[in-house]
Amino acid sequence: VPVSRIRNFSIIAHIDHGKSTLADRLLQDTGTVAQREMKEQFLDSMDLERERGITIKLQAARMDYTAKDGNQYVLNLIDTPGHVDFSYEVSRSLAACEGALLVVDASQGVEAQTLANVYLALENNLEIIPVLNKIDLPGAEPDRVKEEIEEIIGLDCSDAILASAKEGIGINEILESIVKLVPPPEDTVSQKLRALIFDSYYDSYRGVIVYFRVMDGTLKKGDRIRLMASKKEYEIDEIGILCPTQKPVDELHAGEVGYVAAAIKAVEDARVGDTITLAKDAAEEPLPGYKEAKPMVFCGLFPTDSDQFPDLREALDKLKLNDSALSYEPETSTAMGFGFRCGFLGLLHMEIVQERLEREYNLDLIVTSPSVVYQVTTLKGEVLMIDNPTNLPEPNLREKIEEPYVRVEMITPEEYVGTLMDLGQTRRGDFKDMKYLTLGRTTLVYEVPLAEVVTDFFDQMKSRSRGYASMEYHLIGYRANPLVKLDLMINADPVDSLSMIVHRDKAYGVGRSMVEKLKELIPRHQFKVPLQAAIGSKIIASEHIPALRKDVLAKCYGGDISRKKKLLAKQAKGKKRMKSLGSVDVPQEAFMAVLRLN
Ligand code: GTP
Repeated sequence: VPVSRIRNFSIIAHIDHGKSTLADRLLQDTGTVAQREMKEQFLDSMDLERERGITIKLQAARMDYTAKDGNQYVLNLIDTPGHVDFSYEVSRSLAACEGALLVVDASQGVEAQTLANVYLALENNLEIIPVLNKIDLPGAEPDRVKEEIEEIIGLDCSDAILASAKEGIGINEILESIVKLVPPPEDTVSQKLRALIFDSYYDSYRGVIVYFRVMDGTLKKGDRIRLMASKKEYEIDEIGILCPTQKPVDELHAGEVGYVAAAIKAVEDARVGDTITLAKDAAEEPLPGYKEAKPMVFCGLFPTDSDQFPDLREALDKLKLNDSALSYEPETSTAMGFGFRCGFLGLLHMEIVQERLEREYNLDLIVTSPSVVYQVTTLKGEVLMIDNPTNLPEPNLREKIEEPYVRVEMITPEEYVGTLMDLGQTRRGDFKDMKYLTLGRTTLVYEVPLAEVVTDFFDQMKSRSRGYASMEYHLIGYRANPLVKLDLMINADPVDSLSMIVHRDKAYGVGRSMVEKLKELIPRHQFKVPLQAAIGSKIIASEHIPALRKDVLAKCYGGDISRKKKLLAKQAKGKKRMKSLGSVDVPQEAFMAVLRLN
């Protein structure tokens, strides 16, 4: 195909505004996927994604489309993940496009996540086509939403397309607009090869499959390639296009989108944002925008049963092949034994990894409460990055502790402004800005410590606004605060994996709720179990769990064996997900309890 007949685009949408449904429609209407082979929502191929209804991994699809002008065009749809944890991946897939469909639910309006992605698209100079979806709904208000888009984004909406992905309305108009409005790629076929990696996944038979957009030059079967950031070289086994299933071809030139298999061992060696060039005739400069993955949230993962430690290591090694953003290193905790300290892009990323480990690798895990990375300056002037509260230097050795801050933007119906401002306040946020948008919708901006956001900020925002508010955040830097380490003692033993770094002014409140929570969550034992919270040697809160009065078995006087067995089985079930700390059994919930404080 000539470069002038190619259109590369992506779809920007808030969760649930209909991105996948629209993508499916486009694939069907262009005959890329026949109706009968259409699994619902083709682009979200991972089960976990389907279950959670969110897009985690991005992929691509090539469609052939004969436009009204009689010419045949190649339309490459590049999918983007829909969550803040993955905004770097979003920015790279947008960098592979010339245009984007901005899909907004006409019964809802612009949401914070939509905005974040629109800004990324504008930074990448994309042509943005507004599409108002779900106009079939009785509650659709396309005019109000148009006004909102114009107001907030400054995008002309006089030609916005009214569509219903579900009913198939406006689909042709969307295809025509892509052809007319999205510019073709620049014709740089004669330049040296540079291809942008926007996704990759690990296949146990073929090694890593890399998805890319050729920005300059041509890539041919049999070429030897070099990855400019990882500095590795490979012989190509196969290149091809995504229709949306893989179809081998002989070459791909500037403007085209495809995949390559080259016996690459782990996705880490072909990371998103890296540039593919030729080993022989290499480009001088890589494409801009490459970044190393930087974990923002850390937690300890410990097997409930310490015999599972080798299995956990093996599972993490395997997951890592497919997840370059995951980091982990062995950690020993006096309370929990052997496990791993793991780093994630954000809470969602953390939950996904945890769920996979449990579901796909059959591991039973204890997850300690998440921590951010603190920057600690010691009296000697050393600067340490601390991702585990246990490693925090003693107060007499440190000069200051700085913590990461994020800028949080919330969009909400007016009536929830008060309660959301209260949330911002209680989470140590600095109020920055408030703007009225259209008809009772408001945006609120706060600068908040990341530690306060990675706990349950999102859930709080959702419940306080009955699900109507949305948010987005990004890192803005480190700030010094009076932070202290809060320790917890169960039965007089400090539990290192329950230690937390908290703001001095919050320590008492948090300490108190922690011991109360533990009292609630830890079952009674044969003996009295004291619970204490302390800063250094100072006890700031204490409680105790009274001893168990009666043995459950005492009820079944001797005889009835089957009943005894049943009771024991019931008890054993209740015991699941307990970790023995000394002689005390502590359930998983206790380790995550800090998430639900406040
Ligand atoms: P994520 O994958 O989570 O980002 O969501 P999404 O934006 O891909 O949304 P999805 O396509 O999964 O649609 C969300 C819900 O809206 C589904 O229940 C769809 O059936 C429904 N939906 C999508 N388009 C329309 C539409 O035009 N009209 C109506 N009434 N419902 C729609």
